[in-house]
Order: sequence, then C-alpha cells, then structure tokens
Amino acid sequence: MGHLNQRNIIIGVCGGIAAYKSAELVRLLQKQGACIRVVMTEGAQAFITPLTLQALSGNPVHTELLDAEAERGMGHIELARWADAIVIAPATADVLAKLANGDADNLLTTLVLATAAPVFVAPAMNQQMWAQAATQENCDTLRRRNIFFIGPEAGEQACGDIGTGRMSEPSAIVENLNAHFPSRALDGLRVVITAGPTREAIDPVRFIGNHSSGKMGFALARAAREAGATVTLIAGPVHLATPEGVERIDVESARQMLSACEQSCEHADIFVACAAVADYRPIAIADHKLKKQGEAGLTIELTQNPDIAATISRDFPELYTVGFAAETQNVLEHAREKRQRKQLDLIIANDVSNDAVFGQDHNSVTIIGPELQLHLDKASKLQVARSCIEAIATDFHRSD
Ligand code: CTP
Repeated sequence: MGHLNQRNIIIGVCGGIAAYKSAELVRLLQKQGACIRVVMTEGAQAFITPLTLQALSGNPVHTELLDAEAERGMGHIELARWADAIVIAPATADVLAKLANGDADNLLTTLVLATAAPVFVAPAMNQQMWAQAATQENCDTLRRRNIFFIGPEAGEQACGDIGTGRMSEPSAIVENLNAHFPSRALDGLRVVITAGPTREAIDPVRFIGNHSSGKMGFALARAAREAGATVTLIAGPVHLATPEGVERIDVESARQMLSACEQSCEHADIFVACAAVADYRPIAIADHKLKKQGEAGLTIELTQNPDIAATISRDFPELYTVGFAAETQNVLEHAREKRQRKQLDLIIANDVSNDAVFGQDHNSVTIIGPELQLHLDKASKLQVARSCIEAIATDFHRSD
C-alpha cells in the first residue's frame, strides 16, 4: 500500500468541465486505500451528479453548509477535523478567489477555513482566466498561505483555446499527494544531517561566516524524522527551532562540525551534508580583539578547512552519503563532478546564482546519482526536503 493508505481525504469538486475527471480521482485514491468524502459546490452538480461520486467513494456526498440532516451525520466542523487533506479538483477561478478572500459562503470554502489539514488545489479554467492578474494574485496569496498547487497544465482546452489552464491528470494529483505524505521510508534508520553556516573566528569578536540560514537542513531533519528516522542534526549558528523529535548538536567552526559528524556517524546509516561550510579559516585566532591597523590595511592569512563530506565518506565507506552543491553556473555538470570527487552516493544541486535560495522559504533542486537525475520544481523548502528524503530512501534501499 502507498502512503495514502488509511488517509482521510476530502475531495472538493467545483463547477467546471474538468469535474468529470473527479470520478477518476476518487477511484484512484480509493485504490491507494484512502478514505474519501466528496464535497460538491452547486456549480459542480451541473457537470457531474452527486450519485456518481457517492457510488465511487462509498460515502454520501456533502453539498450544503446549512443542512440540518447532513449536520446530524457529520457536521462541517467534524468533517474539517476528520480530513488529513483537502483536495480541490477542479478548482475554478471563483473558488481560488473565494479562498484568497477567506470567504466561508459554501460548505467547501468553510471547510478550508475550518481545517488544520493541508489543502491542495488543482486549478482548471480557460487560459485567459488563469493568466488574468486577479487570478494570479489570488494564487500568490494562497501559495504564501501554504496552499499547495497541482498544475494547471498547458494544452488544448475544452473551450478550444490552447494554453495553460487544464486540470492536471488525476494520476498526477495522486502522485503529488503521495509525495506530500511521509512514507515512513526511513523507519529504523539513523540519519546525521549538517545544517547552517560555520563561523571561523578571527579574534574574540569577529568571524568569517556566510549567509546560510540553515532552513533547508532543518527541513531535511524534520522530513527525515517524519519518515521514521532517528535524526541527529549538527547545526552551525542559526536561529531556528529544533524540529520535533530531532537531536541537535550545536557547533561553530568547520572543525567542530567535523568532529561532531565523526562521532555521530559511528552509528549512522545515512549522512546528509547540507551545511555551508567555510572552505577557509584564519591560520591563527587572535587572543585579543584586533586593533585597527590604519591605512596599511589588514591581512588575514587563511588555511583550508577539512572537507566534511569528503572526509566522512572516506572514513565511513559503508555509510550512505548525500551532499549538496550550491552552484552559480553549469550547475548539473559541477554537481556531478563534485559528487564523484567527494565520493557521495547522491548530490542535490541547486542554483544560487540569483539570490533565490539563501534565507528564502522556497527552493528548487536536482537530485543526482550515478543513474539518477530528478528535478524537483520550486516548492517550499519543507516540500522539497520531503521529496529529497523520499528519493534518498528509495536510493538507499535500492543499494541496500
Ligand atoms: N562541504 C563540506 N565541507 C566543506 C565544504 C563543503 O562538507 N569544507 C559539503 C557541503 O556541505 C555540501 C558539499 O560539500 O554538501 C558541497 O559544498 P559546496 O560549497 O558546493 O562545494 P565546495 O566543496 O566548497 O566546492 P567549491 O567551493 O569549489 O564549489
């Protein structure tokens, strides 16, 4: 069974021609073992009958917010609490606008406000309606609020237009949901992850550092934990809360990070080097605060830091190792070369050429292995981390 087995999923169907695909979506999710309840807007019922979706889902279809009979069965708040996810497919321009506005004028929009579960939308509309600034601004608002978008796809439309606005296929929607729910794929495994920058002291008050926020490494630690691993997170100086259930070791310099890694990796199965380690450190750390040197300037001599990823993969040949490659040009080529040079099982490449990664909440990466090249579209760092953990788990078990 997949990750959706026993998950409670509300499928919200809105009024669009793509509503006919909802029947297939219900069927596919049923096959994955999910428990389905369908909520239809009034418009949806003009395209597909509640009876069809009731028969496929095995549960009565919910259509009314103010329906005493339905409220006696499973009221809207109960339904919102029951859900592990709400998937709105098709999501019309109208429902996107309502959600962006925080409306609660029908059962579906009310459920979205009343649930703590993740909400997914698969938009479907005419390409011009999708391109419209009003729709795009609504989508931006919803993305900022962590509503997950699936599609829309480009192609021929029911109205005869060609462009972006087709609802994603039900199989693609199921794939997205599968990726979202942790699979427990790392159950029983021990994972060590480095995160954040390192600080290389110059004197008691100054250091060489970098802009790494640690968000990606922390997201990976959370995702690995969700997937069932025992996680040790070795973090440089960052202001982030420790993910629940994760053991954290705080370090400052690259050498401290290496020594913490060496100890933690003794009993680990997987090592993920996500930290932005300073490649160089001052040869000597001044005992006292350095005084201004005047116009002559100041020269600080640097020496190379150990490469943590390369050292760990050399010293623990049995360990499954994953690195990151932050590149500004020829991203994939440099990443491939780095993976080989550091003898890593996988490398996760990201393009940092336009400031779009450091400190940001979103990321887009390519996972590269000897026979693997998997691109993950831009998404929240947590979503990307979950997909990376899935890919790592799959590759780890394959090479078991
Ligand atoms: N890394 C490490 N120790 C270092 C430098 C890097 O463990 N001293 C790890 C990083 O955590 C990352 C990978 O190596 O997983 C690649 O880091 P990156 O900064 O992209 O590469 P560098 O080795 O520094 O190479 P270059 O500066 O030439 O791009």
